Amino acid sequence: MHDIGKKESADSRRGIALLDNPVRNKGTAFTVEERRELGLEGLLPYAVESLERQVERVLGQLEAKPTDLERYVYLIALSDRNETLFYRTVMADPARFVPILYDPTVAEACLTFGHIYRRARGMYITRGMKGRIAEVLRNWPQRDVRFICVSTGGRILGLGDIGANGMGIPIGKLQLYTACAAVPPACLLPILLDVGTTNAALRADPLYLGLRQEPPPAQELDELVDEFVEAVQRVFPGCCLHFEDWKGTDAIRLLNRYRDAILCYNDDIQGTASVVLAGLTAALEIIGKPLAEQGILFFGAGSAGIGIANLIVAALRGKGLSLAEARSRISLFDIDGLLEPSRPQLSEAQKVYAHRAAPSRDLVETIETLKPTILIGVSTKGGAFDQRVVEAMSRLNERPIIFALSNPTDKAECTAEEAYTWSGGKALFAAGVQFPDVEMNGKTYHPGQANNFYIFPALGLATYAARPRLITDECFIVAAQASADQVGVELRGRGMLFPSQANILETEITTATRIAEFMFEKGLAQAEPPRDVRAWIESLLYEPHY
Ligand code: NAI
Repeated sequence: MHDIGKKESADSRRGIALLDNPVRNKGTAFTVEERRELGLEGLLPYAVESLERQVERVLGQLEAKPTDLERYVYLIALSDRNETLFYRTVMADPARFVPILYDPTVAEACLTFGHIYRRARGMYITRGMKGRIAEVLRNWPQRDVRFICVSTGGRILGLGDIGANGMGIPIGKLQLYTACAAVPPACLLPILLDVGTTNAALRADPLYLGLRQEPPPAQELDELVDEFVEAVQRVFPGCCLHFEDWKGTDAIRLLNRYRDAILCYNDDIQGTASVVLAGLTAALEIIGKPLAEQGILFFGAGSAGIGIANLIVAALRGKGLSLAEARSRISLFDIDGLLEPSRPQLSEAQKVYAHRAAPSRDLVETIETLKPTILIGVSTKGGAFDQRVVEAMSRLNERPIIFALSNPTDKAECTAEEAYTWSGGKALFAAGVQFPDVEMNGKTYHPGQANNFYIFPALGLATYAARPRLITDECFIVAAQASADQVGVELRGRGMLFPSQANILETEITTATRIAEFMFEKGLAQAEPPRDVRAWIESLLYEPHY
């Protein structure tokens, strides 16, 4: 990823400016000849080092940092200095670095964004640029931008509206495209669409870097986004728009507005739904039961719950069920109880799941009445799956499937230990956070984390290669199946529902290959179909070396 103002010019390819050019800088790895030719003599210490030796130094410095936030600040500064070294370091061990570059550390980094800020990265488009957005986008030095991750900062991880401080999210999310799936970093552009923030404390912080206004009403926001989307098409043709962490209602509305018109997706909605479907698919394969025969109860009926429910419906339709049959398999329960037709003020998206049933505000009662085989928590209500809930699910099912997806950890509906203990080891469990392994009766359970990084980097890689016109729900269903297919027997035996994190790049390539094959099969892809999709994708991967 390039910094603002890092337009490639002859000047930035030599001398001191070269050491300040993160894409070309090699630091102490410049050879004696290069130093002589490029005007670097005297600007570097004597030693000429290999990339491996530089990585060794980076790891040592990271080790010495007392907190992950400091590791984050260090890594971001490293990527500003030397992109190759940064990616060489993080790609060597993505499982270790993803939690630093992204969730949970990035949340902390966003909170203190105005305070830890060093230099601009990506682009900031503000309301005042209306009418000139295309012109502003042209200030970006790269023309071949293939992905823009755009956020308003309107709903960041469990932090709510943090406005321009949310910039850490598009930056981190795009770094994961490369760190996990080797998508070339030069084609990635993070953008913060600064429409103001509802967060009064932030607006009052003298170090806050964003617009100090309330966000506009929906219609004005939509007009601004329309211009932004149109400008992106014009300035960066073929670019995929990845919407991330917008306020829930904006996210759903805007996805519906653009999903059939332009190359775009929303990771909070579609990526999340896909990774949950991946976990469910793996769980059902473990117990040998088809999705079509399950009863699914959601605890929480917000944007995550509805998004997951809708993708499950799409998956069931793909298995031959009618829309009504597919929807009948799913019920939702929220802060006011079970969604049923007598409930006032249900949104259109919720109404389709409000099946005829007696009103209930008691989760255990609802479980006993509806007899779900799968219980999915997306409520932000920590501890809501208490012993009674887990025991009720375990009484009704030989192997209850219980996902407690709310995060951060204190919001999880139950912990892994509680799910395994209260179900007597029967539950197939996944969470939104990574819980430690649980030892019970001489057996080790390995709880899965429904982490979107199993899906979106692979989708990004497939999109990078196949250049689809659109990304459809089916692409996310294919991704979910590909993820489930990579959960090996040994992992399944320990209750794990997601692939191993030992070789993330391999996993992402396998998933990307399946998605790209699907894109070719369905006529979505615009690239020339290759003979061997996997080999072709492998030939396109970014490799961090000098
Ligand atoms: P949201 O605010 O749109 O919806 C929350 C829903 O939970 C609402 O329907 C609300 O009525 C319900 N709720 C709140 N308190 C409740 C209570 N005491 N009892 C019953 N229902 C209650 O939030 P959103 O975006 O749907 O996210 C929900 C949670 O899911 C968040 O904690 C988020 O972190 C988590 N999540 C996890 C993901 C993952 O694991 N990959 C991905 C996306 C979201």
